[in-house]
Amino acid sequence: MSQEQCAHSHYEQMAESWNGPSPGIDHDAPFYGPPLARFSTSVEYGFGAGRLLTKLKPTFGVDSSPAMIERCIQANPDVKLLSGNISTVTLPRPVGYSYAAGGTMNGFSELPELTEALSNIRRNSTATSEFRFDLIAGQMYEDLQSILGIWFTFDAGDEIATCERYSQVGPRNYLHEYMLDAGTSVQQHVHIHEQWFEPAEVTEALSHVGYSANWVQTRPGTRVFSPRAHLHFFVARQEEW
Ligand SMILES: C[S@@+](CC[C@H](N)C(=O)[O-])C[C@H]1O[C@@H](n2cnc3c(N)ncnc32)[C@H](O)[C@@H]1O
Repeated sequence: MSQEQCAHSHYEQMAESWNGPSPGIDHDAPFYGPPLARFSTSVEYGFGAGRLLTKLKPTFGVDSSPAMIERCIQANPDVKLLSGNISTVTLPRPVGYSYAAGGTMNGFSELPELTEALSNIRRNSTATSEFRFDLIAGQMYEDLQSILGIWFTFDAGDEIATCERYSQVGPRNYLHEYMLDAGTSVQQHVHIHEQWFEPAEVTEALSHVGYSANWVQTRPGTRVFSPRAHLHFFVARQEEW
């Protein structure tokens, strides 16, 4: 199964139990929210179960998982939800503000794939636009070295309780497995690949497609979808800083 197929099947199966809107897990809203006031059109790429989309109400939402769209559609009649791939989708019209939260951009397998996605995001943008996103930092995986290959229970309050395991499968590629407790004796086993990128190479890829970018790294404890996550938050604009 390709990395992309793994991701698709993972999110289709996770859609039921994935984090939806909740005050406990929206602490990245202050980063993603403010530009909405400056742009008349916007899009969230990879909105998942609507954790931010339901709160921020962009013009469009794009997700490759029909099950995620199904979860969000009723609560968001005012947002046009599109099923599509970040790398290939064409929005109904170009947008001024784009964002992708919760490690969505870590799903791309290598730098060329990430660059292709960035290029398409740029293609779907107006001449003066902004794109905000986060990436899980390599430091998070360094912190996990002592538990690689070991199943552990993860219960983070508002988030789903589950068993998880990380294994390293490439220099910067990790297999992240979940054993979901379906509330019965049946357990579901799903996995996803997470690729981490150096901020400098991401900045260069952004520049390659026409963005200039700034980024900051947060410390662990900033819970976006994991209390362990070190995150890089990027702001990319089609103008000089
Ligand atoms: C890590 S989840 C993040 C969900 C949400 N942004 C949040 O922070 O709670 C990634 C989401 O992006 C979607 N996704 C992953 N790769 C995608 C791609 N290439 N194109 C469109 N959607 C994608 C998945 O279906 C999933 O819903």
